[in-house]
Amino acid sequence: MREQLAGRYADPEFSALERAAIAWLDGFYQLEHLLATRRWITVLRPGAAPALRFAALVHDAERHFPGGPTSTPTNGFDDPDYLFTHSLRSAAIVEDWLHRQRPLPDASFIAAVRKFVLRHEIGGNADEDLVQAADSLSFLETLDWLCVDWVRKGRYTEAGATAKLTWMVERIRPSAALSAALPLYAAAIQRLKAAGDSALALGHRRRLAGDGALLTGTAARPVDAG
Ligand SMILES: [Fe+2]
Repeated sequence: MREQLAGRYADPEFSALERAAIAWLDGFYQLEHLLATRRWITVLRPGAAPALRFAALVHDAERHFPGGPTSTPTNGFDDPDYLFTHSLRSAAIVEDWLHRQRPLPDASFIAAVRKFVLRHEIGGNADEDLVQAADSLSFLETLDWLCVDWVRKGRYTEAGATAKLTWMVERIRPSAALSAALPLYAAAIQRLKAAGDSALALGHRRRLAGDGALLTGTAARPVDAG
């Protein structure tokens, strides 16, 4: 798995601010999900505005910091109490971080990022629907192991975890994103059915998913003994 992930999200077009955000969120078990969400934005809309790309990269930041709402709600996944609390907390944490950066990003950039983060679970206009769709695609692509983890730990039944994957697909609005999601959904469902397979080392997978240097290909290369 390590080999498959090494440099998978490398991008020479990372801005200095994006690199700083990746360092900020290094070690977060959803860092891979964030990097993949940003990448889906660039796939679905080449040349996407910097604020759109950046918001995708940080949209779930609050989960990295203790004190937030549980990410495994018991009221179903389309639960506004959870979704709004999560989105508001992420937006506040991201905005605060942006205000501490030097050079200070433009106020218009900060406001745009805040709006996209606030809307990432519910969509809205075409740009906001894109953030939501990229989040769904990335979840299906990179967090199938988390659904397996939920089932193994008894947080959800297989049917409950399947409901999360299904909701992630059903909320997608752009048709191109929906087409891209279906094979990822099928693969994630297969993975979930194999949840009892003890060969899947979830602790290891979780650590790799938070390894910024590995994922972005900036890990120090081993010294060549030859
Ligand atoms: Fe997300």
